[in-house]
Amino acid sequence: MSKQFAVIGNPIEQSRSPELHHAFAEKTGIALQYSKRLAPLDGFQHSVQSFFDQGGSGMNVTVPFKEQAYSMSSVLTERARIAGAVNTLWMENGQLHGDNTDGQGLVYAIQALGWNLDQTDILIIGAGGATRGVIYPLVQAGAKKIVIANRTLSRAEQLIADLKDAVPGAELIACGLDQLNGQFDIVINATSASLSGDALVLPDTLQFQHAYEMAYGKPSSFLNQAKARGVAHSEGFGMLVGQAIESFSIWNGIKPELKDFL
Ligand code: ATR
Repeated sequence: MSKQFAVIGNPIEQSRSPELHHAFAEKTGIALQYSKRLAPLDGFQHSVQSFFDQGGSGMNVTVPFKEQAYSMSSVLTERARIAGAVNTLWMENGQLHGDNTDGQGLVYAIQALGWNLDQTDILIIGAGGATRGVIYPLVQAGAKKIVIANRTLSRAEQLIADLKDAVPGAELIACGLDQLNGQFDIVINATSASLSGDALVLPDTLQFQHAYEMAYGKPSSFLNQAKARGVAHSEGFGMLVGQAIESFSIWNGIKPELKDFL
């Protein structure tokens, strides 16, 4: 029988993970089945347990269960521990292992665009879970300064207090959205503004060479402003593919090439 994988979330219908993993499997010649699992909001742990009890090999975890997956994992990777969230689960030596591949997915996506990360100054807008998951991988990939700008300044400050010891090589700075200015190599929109259709206003005093929107398939005022300025820009589909590639590689020991799936 082929190896069994699944993505678990609530809702789950929208997930593109099965099509991505089946495409990777076809490209790499690995036999697997990858399905969607809807877990009840109060039934995540039970669903995970029964999936692995039935011989499942690995699971991706999506909204709203990434923090529960983190709590449930017996063994965590360094980046999952720092992110405080898990999107990739597997059993090893009878223990549930948890990793977080979202940040590395973003790094792969940025590298596939040909944007340099080494010694860069990066601005991340937003200070929620999406931002928490990407700081450490961005610093590992070479970012030297990261400014975290958030509507609620105290949340950006708290995030930096939580993460600064994990990234001693980089400078982390918090600011409010109303204080946006300066020069950056890359600006990343990690807010949920595009998902809710809200506008983000980037002032002229803010200058940047590249703009990455973590959301995809939605109108984005952030991307529209980048386009109007004529700077290189991308929406977040590459990050989605990138995190899936990293999970696939952990489970199957072979890493598909991101550019083949964009
Ligand atoms: P996620 O886990 O996807 O990061 P989250 O934890 O709900 O989701 O965080 C959403 C982020 O988007 C927050 O940084 C939020 O700002 P606040 O902390 O001030 O709430 C930001 N956000 C959401 N809607 C926004 C908007 N219309 N303008 C600016 N920031 C917005």
